[in-house]
Amino acid sequence: MQAEPVITLSKARLVMGQRMILRDVTAVIERGGPTVLLGPNGCGKTSLLKAMMGLVSLTSGTVDRHVGRASFVLQKPVMLRRSVYDNLAFARQTAGLPHSESVMTDLLNDFSLTHLAHAPARRLSGGEQQRLAIARALAREPALLFLDEPTASLDVAQTRLVEDLIARISARGVKIILSTHDLGQAKRIADDVLFLVEGQLAEQAPMASFFHAARSSQARAFLAGELVSIDGEKP
Ligand SMILES: Nc1ncnc2c1ncn2[C@@H]1O[C@H](COP(=O)(O)OP(=O)(O)OP(=O)(O)O)[C@@H](O)[C@H]1O
Ligand SMILES: [Mg+2]
Repeated sequence: MQAEPVITLSKARLVMGQRMILRDVTAVIERGGPTVLLGPNGCGKTSLLKAMMGLVSLTSGTVDRHVGRASFVLQKPVMLRRSVYDNLAFARQTAGLPHSESVMTDLLNDFSLTHLAHAPARRLSGGEQQRLAIARALAREPALLFLDEPTASLDVAQTRLVEDLIARISARGVKIILSTHDLGQAKRIADDVLFLVEGQLAEQAPMASFFHAARSSQARAFLAGELVSIDGEKP
């Protein structure tokens, strides 16, 4: 099958103040199952997602997106001071899509939010807000969905719900690129992995090769539960 690129990164570099946050990241992300950006806290996952979404400008290098509309779910989503229903309706409206009662019904249903449709979004629990945030992103009918640590503050049951949703959205053909520092989550949902250490892409591999035959010493150390840095020294 011909590989279809979704994102092409070429020497993507991001410098903020004195700090090099992304170090010449070169990679092609293809259509298919979820791509997971994996790496320790502060390695640049959020910055790379934002660069791919166009929310931050690179200092040098390029990022090209080859598909249509993209949606981005922040690690700590901000709910509008409106009902759950209106949060969804507003997201569609800002994407320039027509209002559709049947789309709204399906979204509320798919995300188990029907009983909360008229509740103020800001009163929802963390797990409910995260589901609404993903539903809101999907209301825009994106071809590409960025999820930044979508389960970082959720318990096991809510994490499982969100991971199931991710699998269903992906099966519908929406390309998902998500960040996590959770190895178990990467293993459960990744089709392929981009492993970042201190802003450098240490490894890109299909999920099974990453977990069973990692080539970089940093990836092997991370998989073994050790602390990692780009020069291989313990930080
Ligand atoms: N606006 C900024 N100005 C200066 N430094 C920044 C800025 N944004 C991020 N950084 C730094 O860039 C590095 C990468 O941050 P980023 O948030 O991309 O990492 P991350 O992998 O998402 O981390 P986490 O797992 O904690 O979410 C961090 O050291 C951070 O302090
Ligand atoms: Mg982050």
